[in-house]
Amino acid sequence: MKVCIIGASGKLGRYMVQHALDRDYEVVAVCRQKSVDKLKNYSNRIRIVPGATNDRKVIEEAVRECQGVLTVLVPWGVKGYSTGTAQAVLDYAPQDARLIFSCGWHISRDGKDKYSGKFKFMVNVAGWLGRFIRVFDINDQVEATNRIFASDKKWTVVRGSDLEEGDSQGLPVWSKHVGDPILESNITRRIDFALFMVEALVNDDLIREAPAIVGCKTESAIKYSSGT
Ligand SMILES: NC(=O)c1ccc[n+]([C@@H]2O[C@H](COP(=O)([O-])OP(=O)(O)OC[C@H]3O[C@@H](n4cnc5c(N)ncnc54)[C@H](OP(=O)(O)O)[C@@H]3O)[C@@H](O)[C@H]2O)c1
Repeated sequence: MKVCIIGASGKLGRYMVQHALDRDYEVVAVCRQKSVDKLKNYSNRIRIVPGATNDRKVIEEAVRECQGVLTVLVPWGVKGYSTGTAQAVLDYAPQDARLIFSCGWHISRDGKDKYSGKFKFMVNVAGWLGRFIRVFDINDQVEATNRIFASDKKWTVVRGSDLEEGDSQGLPVWSKHVGDPILESNITRRIDFALFMVEALVNDDLIREAPAIVGCKTESAIKYSSGT
């Protein structure tokens, strides 16, 4: 399978590169010119297309003939970076390609997620602060995912819990809505978030789903996933 990883030089991105190479996939990686060096350990095994992830020409070139596109959605700046990235992928990826996007639990597809007061407070404060200092705009990620949800392409939006580093524990478990008991532990290893994204490429059950994930070895996952 030929896959494009957009935002490949970040922490999640590099884990996805490794998982994809472990599966012998052909990898095309998009990252900012200044970050190309972060992929030097892989440079003889992947093709790197340097550029901003919302540069439509860069994305058009990178996703050509790919069967899968893994996109790290990040709402940097206040000029629609996330939305521009998502729209370019939706516009240029081949019609049948599996498109997997990352985001956090704060994204809601159908408004049926149940958030704690603390979570809502943190998102509101971070949202306000990010816009105030003009470093990031959470609403941009919301707009990006709304466009994905409205698309007829074969997308999956993977909603990550809080993240931690560490060795892989295996494929995270998922649920349709934040607030479901299985997600209570709210922690996933970043390497396993990446694993879930890469595995989603070949899991048709996840087409047009927005799974909220949690580590498979967490207390809530063990308590509520027995027998499933
Ligand atoms: N961190 C969390 O706790 C958490 C929790 C849940 C979900 N998530 C989701 O996980 C994904 C990324 O997580 P991560 O922890 O792996 O992030 P990360 O390592 O910070 O990577 C984020 C990406 O953003 C790029 N980036 C950084 N600064 C930028 C800028 N000023 N302009 C444009 N691009 C910039 C990075 O590229 P460079 O290599 O070029 O810098 C990289 O591709 C996101 O979709 C996020 O919503 C994160």
